[in-house]
Amino acid sequence: MFDTMKTQLLEKLAPFRQEHLLTFWDSLTAAEQQHLAAQIEQIDFAQLAQLYADRDKPAESLTLADRAAEPPFEQFSTVRRSTSGAGNAYAAGEELLRQGKAAAVLVAGGQGTRLGFDHPKGMYPIGPVSGKTLFQIHFEKVLAAVRRYGHRIPYCVMTSPATHAETVEFLTGNKFFGLKEDDVLILCQGTMPAVSMDSGKVLLADKGGLALSPDGHGGMLKALSFSRTACGRQTALETLKSRGIEYLFYNQVDNPLVRILSPEMLGYHVLSGSELTSQVIRKTNPLDKVGNVVKVGDKLYVIEYSDLPNDVAERRKSDGSLQIWAGSIAVHIFNVELLERCSKIASSLPFHTARKKVSYTDLQTGETVKPSEPNAVKFERFIFDLLPSAKNAIVVEVDPPNHYAPLKNAPGSPEFSPETVSADISAMHTSWLEQSGVKAADGVNVEISPLFADSPEALAGKIAAGAAVEKDTYFE
Ligand code: UD1
Repeated sequence: MFDTMKTQLLEKLAPFRQEHLLTFWDSLTAAEQQHLAAQIEQIDFAQLAQLYADRDKPAESLTLADRAAEPPFEQFSTVRRSTSGAGNAYAAGEELLRQGKAAAVLVAGGQGTRLGFDHPKGMYPIGPVSGKTLFQIHFEKVLAAVRRYGHRIPYCVMTSPATHAETVEFLTGNKFFGLKEDDVLILCQGTMPAVSMDSGKVLLADKGGLALSPDGHGGMLKALSFSRTACGRQTALETLKSRGIEYLFYNQVDNPLVRILSPEMLGYHVLSGSELTSQVIRKTNPLDKVGNVVKVGDKLYVIEYSDLPNDVAERRKSDGSLQIWAGSIAVHIFNVELLERCSKIASSLPFHTARKKVSYTDLQTGETVKPSEPNAVKFERFIFDLLPSAKNAIVVEVDPPNHYAPLKNAPGSPEFSPETVSADISAMHTSWLEQSGVKAADGVNVEISPLFADSPEALAGKIAAGAAVEKDTYFE
């Protein structure tokens, strides 16, 4: 029986010269063979061969860099330091939330290699006083919106095979931090194999398994439109639609400052008729390591910092400010209809290639090799590549102290580390207190539970002006 399986696999692999994947086949147990066969079956080797052949082809966005102009934008009230003009947006966003037309998605499938944490990043304890995890902070923001607007809100969480089992166990064990189980849709994204940089051959992670990694946050489109959820046999998109959801708020697991389901941002989105709205920060340095949102013709694109030529990045307007200034912080609102439309077009999200160090099994010795230089090409899709497909896309400028402190790097790193992110949470909450007339003493850590207040507006009236905070305090 297993020989038949081997023969069938060889027939699939031979046209693409990938037969080496069965080098250790005869030494595997029946279960290991089944596992390897299942992995091989899932791969579209023709697509992989094409991607490898095109690996040096410049990304479309790169060829557009020369014609890039600034995108149409709104400014969040925290940037303008005034609420004038924001009122209409806020009210429009609140109306959508009251009508139950908005849901949220959290992408948490990344491997978080730079942080050096052995669990899904969402499990990292980051609350400066409470020690709450990133997951808890995000879930409680959604719960706060549910309570405020009196409407259940579906919450999608995208995992990957690397993070799925532990995430499910953690969320279930914590009873979804107060959200109803029926409202949490956990979707596991797909994977892509890493191939040798020199030969295009798929690498073996061990004798009975391929070197697979998550297919990028763009894998969300497929995860939403193909994976079946617990809700009957529906896909997540079908579930969202059947619950009357028109807008999907997106954020990454690494940023605890994000205002999930911000009424103001939802308002700008709907009032401008945008199908995709992205939050951006104003770059201070032309070479800041963020994706750049630009306008070319009547479409918006993100050009990753690594794809933006320095001379283009350095271009300035007559007032001396940067021409390409809008740095994406990976917070978006998608129209569900846009997601549905694009999920039917295979090419709506191109693959990006990256050269990476990937450990592999030596075919002669069977030993694991840990390369010191990049040896492999990896392929990922990015969700922001939906921008050019979106009608009337806009960006909303936010200020980092109130919106952006991503946990990316290991403890001790000078930026985006556990220490800096914790301090940023405390600084933001201290400033919210100040806006309510409450002063925190220097050096004191302050943290406000999203269930107590998830914005300065929500905090107003909850604590008496003139109060002083003398020691580390958690408002819950
Ligand atoms: C990303 C953006 C960058 C933006 C920055 C803001 C890309 C390519 N770049 O950079 O434009 O300025 O965030 O913080 O996205 N994830 C998955 N599945 C995957 C890969 C990633 O769910 O297959 C999730 C991760 O869990 C994480 C997020 O996507 O929540 C970001 O991934 P990461 O690789 O850390 O992106 P950055 O390089 O930091």
